[in-house]
Amino acid sequence: MPSISSWLLLGGCLFAGPALSASGNIPAQAQLIDQRKFNVLNNTRPPAEFNDTNIFVPPGMTEKSLTGQPFHVYDEEFLKIIGNNPTLTRIAYSEVDPLFHEAVVWSKGTDEVFFAQNAGPPEAGTGLKKSSIVEKISLAEAAAVANKTDAVGLVTVHNVTSPESPKVINPNGGNNYRGKLIFAGEGQGNDTAPALYVMNPKEPYDTEILLNNFFGRQFNSLNDVAIHPNNKEIYFTDVPYGYYQDFRPSPGLQNQVYRFNPDTGAVRIAADGFTHPNGFTFSPDGKHAYVTDTGVGYSFYGNNLTEPSSIYRFDVTDDGTLENRKTFAFASPGLPDGVHCDSWGNVYAGCGDGIQVWNPSGKLIGKIFVGTTSANFNFAGEGRMVICAENSLYYATLAAAGNYVESEM
Ligand SMILES: *[C@@H]1O[C@H](CO)[C@@H](O)[C@H](O)[C@H]1NC(C)=O
Ligand SMILES: *[C@@H]1O[C@H](CO)[C@@H](O)[C@H](O)[C@H]1NC(C)=O
Ligand SMILES: *[C@@H]1O[C@H](CO)[C@@H](O)[C@H](O)[C@H]1NC(C)=O
Ligand SMILES: *[C@@H]1O[C@H](CO)[C@@H](O)[C@H](O)[C@H]1NC(C)=O
Ligand SMILES: *[C@@H]1O[C@H](CO)[C@@H](O)[C@H](O)[C@H]1NC(C)=O
Ligand SMILES: *[C@@H]1O[C@H](CO)[C@@H](O)[C@H](O)[C@H]1NC(C)=O
Repeated sequence: MPSISSWLLLGGCLFAGPALSASGNIPAQAQLIDQRKFNVLNNTRPPAEFNDTNIFVPPGMTEKSLTGQPFHVYDEEFLKIIGNNPTLTRIAYSEVDPLFHEAVVWSKGTDEVFFAQNAGPPEAGTGLKKSSIVEKISLAEAAAVANKTDAVGLVTVHNVTSPESPKVINPNGGNNYRGKLIFAGEGQGNDTAPALYVMNPKEPYDTEILLNNFFGRQFNSLNDVAIHPNNKEIYFTDVPYGYYQDFRPSPGLQNQVYRFNPDTGAVRIAADGFTHPNGFTFSPDGKHAYVTDTGVGYSFYGNNLTEPSSIYRFDVTDDGTLENRKTFAFASPGLPDGVHCDSWGNVYAGCGDGIQVWNPSGKLIGKIFVGTTSANFNFAGEGRMVICAENSLYYATLAAAGNYVESEM
């Protein structure tokens, strides 16, 4: 195991600044990525040949070497996050159907993680034809195989079937809510409006609809939802991905972030000015909100490389309004989709090559590299993470803990 200090010496020169002065052993599943090695490339290619859809393989590395040691240390700060012995295990695989997509949420009471199938792609047979499903795994089963890299078949993926009426339709975002789970549903066709659903995490998974309109108007397709740790209100994003995936009518509202107080019924705007406001989360102290803008992605209608692939950060004022929008990060490859903070305030997003991690000042410090699009993921308490990568489902162990919001009022 090379240490940071020997790596620096091998690199031929030292980093400036104190951030890399300390040293430590590099865990077996981790590798250091020296960004100076690719600041100047011998060959670069034009956007029509190399863009957001391409995984960047630094010189001297291969996709195999990148996945072989999947915890990529871009900055020493990441070593604290991964700890001494991080692990990454593929725990389920679905050859055709993208069963592992988004709405990843830890049910603390049952120690399970729930997530949803992708509602968009034809391979799923969902969207307009039928709703995408909610699924779950047991964390005890995942923990038992954490030392393997491939444990497909050893962890059971359960389909969660809520009662017919109401049924969670095309869930995409998920979170904890008053001891239950809240899902943001994208809607279906002209007649099933996008909605916020609350589901009991225990059988019979009874469900209620919390909100399905803005003063009578349908939302476009709700995408993600988070509860503010202090005011306990529900913030959620709305985008037209249901329309871009041919299962919702053309959008009837601006793409924006809303805020909903379930006790008074008040629903109002929280922020606008995005192309595709997608993932949403709060910092652990509730002082910041993070919104991913996947403007670059138009799903069935291709990509627009000059649109955002960005994370924006807002200050959350005492009255819960969002102000001081700041561009926090720009992610490549792919786009930053689901976003979550750890308990230290670092920011993680599901991107085109796995989970990317930024410190609170927006510096990329590391990746959990799976080599494919990982739309969403979540912590399951301390040191455990579940990553949805469409056809594959991963379980990771690391030192960081999630930013769990117990939203009982
Ligand atoms: C991005 O690059 C790929 C080749 O890797 C190419 O097929 C695609 O057309 C490019 N996209 C755009 C928008 O230029
Ligand atoms: C770039 O070109 C130089 C000179 O030909 C060569 O020594 C070096 O290995 C090349 N680097 C890469 C990453 O291909
Ligand atoms: C995984 O390996 C570590 C260290 O080798 C060991 O302490 C731990 O018990 C193992 N876990 C399981 C579930 O086998
Ligand atoms: C769960 O749902 C998926 C997708 O509809 C289906 O392919 C699979 O057979 C279901 N599994 C069980 C055990 O019913
Ligand atoms: C919604 O209704 C319009 C007009 O009635 C129709 O053209 C459109 O295809 C419908 N869209 C969906 C997604 O069902
Ligand atoms: C891409 O987005 C930009 C900015 O919104 C817009 O001006 C341009 O027309 C778009 N390009 C395409 C090919 O849609």
